[in-house]
Formats: sequence, structure tokens, C-alpha cells
Amino acid sequence: MNRTLYVALTVASSLVFGCDDRREADASSDGGSAGASVTTAGSPASGGSDGTGAERGLAESHADYFPIGAAVGSWHLDNLSDVLDRDFNHLTAENAMKMADIHPAEGSWNTAEADRIADFARDRGWKLTGHTLLWYRQTPAWMFEGITKGDSASLETLKGRLKAHIDTMIERYADVVDNWDVVNEAISDQSGKTYRDGAEGSTWYDLFGSEEYIYWAYKYAYDALEARQAGSAGGKLYYNEYTATVKVDKILTLLGSLEQQGIHVDGVGFQSHENLTWPSTPDLQTAIDRFVAAGYKVKISELDVTVYSDYSTGSFVPQPEVTFTPELEATQAERYRRLFELYRQNRDAITSVTFWGISDDRTWLDSEPVAGRNDHPLLYDDAHEPKAARASIMTF
Ligand code: GLA
Repeated sequence: MNRTLYVALTVASSLVFGCDDRREADASSDGGSAGASVTTAGSPASGGSDGTGAERGLAESHADYFPIGAAVGSWHLDNLSDVLDRDFNHLTAENAMKMADIHPAEGSWNTAEADRIADFARDRGWKLTGHTLLWYRQTPAWMFEGITKGDSASLETLKGRLKAHIDTMIERYADVVDNWDVVNEAISDQSGKTYRDGAEGSTWYDLFGSEEYIYWAYKYAYDALEARQAGSAGGKLYYNEYTATVKVDKILTLLGSLEQQGIHVDGVGFQSHENLTWPSTPDLQTAIDRFVAAGYKVKISELDVTVYSDYSTGSFVPQPEVTFTPELEATQAERYRRLFELYRQNRDAITSVTFWGISDDRTWLDSEPVAGRNDHPLLYDDAHEPKAARASIMTF
């Protein structure tokens, strides 16, 4: 699937967006080149060791703060279950719960991978993020088949299909999902426009002729949870978005409009596909403060830190592949350290911190925004050795 990624850069107080066409390639790269390897086992600082000689993991070191999640597929369970057990205690299905993957034809379900991820979590007493019930991407063609834009009978059919999808997802996974990305990426990247419309790829908006579909997604999710167990929807409904720091006003508009229609969304997922400098930690703090002031929680839902900044001029200028030198590794580690310092300072607001992957040999950033360019955004390198980034967030 193709997607358009916008990475916003602040230039003084104005915002400049760049875009490029990207393949939906979550961790489809099989990697190959070995990156720098930094051994951190037995790190003596507070987060790294419990003093008994046994290494503490990342989740354990953050037990008083928030769960530490990873987005995974079967590949991760096959190849990195030891790292999962060491460092994580929360999971997101990288693709397996997306509508096109799990519900490829009407009434036909492909639950094997999602079930496996859910069982992996259940076995350990972990929880999952339900990612995602409605997204303008990775939606199967059948969902929109035969639907006529603006035609009310057609829209009832579309709503019925969406409801059936959401009801089934909640029935199957509600026991293990502690938060649902009910809607993903519904906000426009363009100034002067709040909602992503058909011109920005949202068939949902296009067919409804408005953002009304967002209301129905939350309504169906809320009702399905409540029908299962009264009171159980509380704390579980999230809205997930990228470049959240520059979309605060628009997201608050969306959330406010849902409140007016009787739907309380519990929190906002900051996808947090960050680079080495953007967004700044003060800007992140301001965004968190604004959501908290308006009564919402925040989660960090898809964290990775690319070593590239293809948008530093304000438009997309792909950078050539770099070598992951010890200096670059140290710069990235410092960036991760500052981000985690900020997250911990906001532990009352932040409900989870989830990485979009585990090791650099399996990252969507090897395919997007520049296909075939090696990136190094995660905590473990291509050889599955811990990087300096991991050590930097273990010690505090
Ligand atoms: C978005 C989506 C994720 C994943 C990433 C990376 O952020 O929410 O599910 O697809 O893009 O591709």
C-alpha cells in the first residue's frame, strides 16, 4: 500500500510540510548489513541493574512509569521473543489487526497472526493496543464496494459494515486490549483544513461527505465495549495521529466535536516517528500540556528515531545513506535519553510508550521515505544487539 508521510518541521513559528509517496512497508525489509553493536548488559546505573547481577529490562526499569510496548508481527515472535521478554510488557500488532489484514473480505476473517500476538500477550499477562479499527489506509476494497457518495441508503450499508467489523474485533480481543486506536490519522496535513478529506486519501470522508464517519467509529466501539461489560469502555478509546505537536488545535477540535455528540475519547496517541532534532522536547511538552488541560491522556504509540532528516529545508530532499558511526549512535542515544526524560516527567499523563519495532533489521524506515536506504531507528541493531540508545533510556 502507498501512503503519504508528512514530516513537519518548524521554521520559526511557521510550519512547513514535505511529503512523499511511501510504500506501506512495516518492517518488510529483511535487513542484512550489521550495524554498530554496543553491549549494555550489566550497566551499573539505576535503571540498568538490580544489584544482583541480573540485568533489569526496560519495562522493569519503567515499572513505576508506564508500560513499554513494541509493535510486532509473527517475525518478531519468531526471532526476538527473548528481547520481548527482557524489555517489553505491552504489544501492538504492527499490521495484523488492520482491517485489510484481518478482514480481507466481508465476513471472512484472517485472525491467525493477530491471535498469535494476543496469545503471546495473554500468556504473559500483558495487554495490547488495538491498532486500528478505522484508518484511511489498509482498508479492504470490499468495505467501499457499491457505496455511492452521499446516498443515505448506501451510507447505512457502509455504517453496517463498519459496525460489524468493530463488533467482531471487540468481541475477539477486548479481554486483552487495554486501549483501542479507534481512528487513525483523520486530521488534515494542510493548513486551513481540519479533517483529511478525499483529496488527502480518505475514502471514508469522501463517501460521507464529512467527518461524520469518525463519530460512528467511536460510537460503535463504545457500544460494543459497554455491551460486553457495562463501564468497560472507560479509559480505552484513543485517537492516534502523526506530527501530533503541530496538530494539537485540530485534534482538540475533533475531540471537542465528539464530546458535543456525547462521545468521550480518553486520550491521544502521539505516533512519535521522530528524527534526531524534531520535534523539540519543549514542543512535545506544550502539546502534552494542552491535551492534559483539556482532559485527555497521552500515549506514545509508534516511537522510532530516524537518523535522517529529509525535510530539513522544508521540502522533501532525500539524504544519502549514512554509516551508523559511533558518533551518530551517541547522538541518537542522547535524543532517546531526552525523550524518555520528558516521558517520565509526564508519567501522570502518559499511559504507555510503544516502539514501532524492536531491531533495525526490521523497520518500515528502511523502505520509506526512501526505498532501500538503511535506517537505524530502534533500540537494537541489525544483529539484535542492544544499541547505545537502549542504555541511554535505562539509566535515570
Ligand atoms: C502509521 C500507522 C502504523 C504504521 C506506520 C508505519 O504510523 O499508524 O500502523 O503503518 O504508519 O508505516
